[in-house]
Amino acid sequence: MKCRSCTKKAVINMRQHKLALCKEHYLEWIPEQVERAIYKYKMFTRQEKILVAVSGGKDSLSLWDILRRLEYPADGLYIGLGIDGGSDYSDESHRLSQKFADQNGLRLHVVDMVDTYGESIPDLAMRTHRGRGKPCSVCGLSKRHIMNQVAHDEAYDVLVTGHNLDDEAAVLFGNTINWQGSYLLRQAPVLEADRPGLARKAKPLCRIYEREMAAYALLRGIDYIYEECPFAVGSTSIYHKELLNKLEEDRPGAKLNFYLSFLQAKTGGLFSPEGDPDVENIHPCPSCGQPTSAPGECAFCRMFSR
Ligand code: AMP
Ligand code: FES
Ligand code: ZN
Ligand code: ZN
Repeated sequence: MKCRSCTKKAVINMRQHKLALCKEHYLEWIPEQVERAIYKYKMFTRQEKILVAVSGGKDSLSLWDILRRLEYPADGLYIGLGIDGGSDYSDESHRLSQKFADQNGLRLHVVDMVDTYGESIPDLAMRTHRGRGKPCSVCGLSKRHIMNQVAHDEAYDVLVTGHNLDDEAAVLFGNTINWQGSYLLRQAPVLEADRPGLARKAKPLCRIYEREMAAYALLRGIDYIYEECPFAVGSTSIYHKELLNKLEEDRPGAKLNFYLSFLQAKTGGLFSPEGDPDVENIHPCPSCGQPTSAPGECAFCRMFSR
């Protein structure tokens, strides 16, 4: 297969975009897509102070790399969670995050849970949940708190995370099958700092497939941690990702469509019928009298009046 932009051999075929690209054009295409999302959702500007949360994984390190290539000045934040999992998971992710920062002359803030709060995530989960269940909720809570704290204390304008399309679609799927109205209302590519002490949050990779990010990291030669967090094994979010991948396999683009049509529906008033033009324009059809939102005659009458 050939690159769409030149005659070289394609390194990736993205069925969802009907697009195949060579290495050079792919490495240009990804930052262009990210730039578009930053612009479209008004995430931040080059004049703002940006903090990227980096986990040592492919998404956040690639995001830092992309922001640097797009000339957005961004510092990093690594949170040491104290997770060993038999493979020094946290130490290794810290090492790779620091390595990336050093190689690129970037500034990395580090907050270590044990040094700062005296307890690792697994110990904290053990104490507060008496050993029951997984530490993921305690971990998510702690990460959100620390990210927000550092962004606030160091006066960053925006906090940026590496959540990709697969992450966002899985969260959306979970929230939808449980009809978590308030979570659905708050899920967005950018969350404004609408309360004192809260940082603006943005997810510039929200429209990029996980597979596309993996290819980017690989082709850029970014050294990242391949393993998932050892506690993520068997999690509901991974199960939801698998389900969505099955759907995507048969219907390329389904994942992107699921997420983007949600965002569109929300802007169109899905959760506030007052603003819904279909509801506002209802009137009796001049021919049959049934209520309709079509301009003039209802769709049924129009079908026969021709
Ligand atoms: P996850 O919740 O592991 O899917 O990660 C989502 C995003 O949160 C990543 O892309 C990072 O931006 C951020 N993140 C996750 N873990 C850490 C960490 N230990 N330190 C800093 N940021 C993190
Ligand atoms: Fe937090 Fe796994 S429990 S990253
Ligand atoms: Zn090419
Ligand atoms: Zn009618």
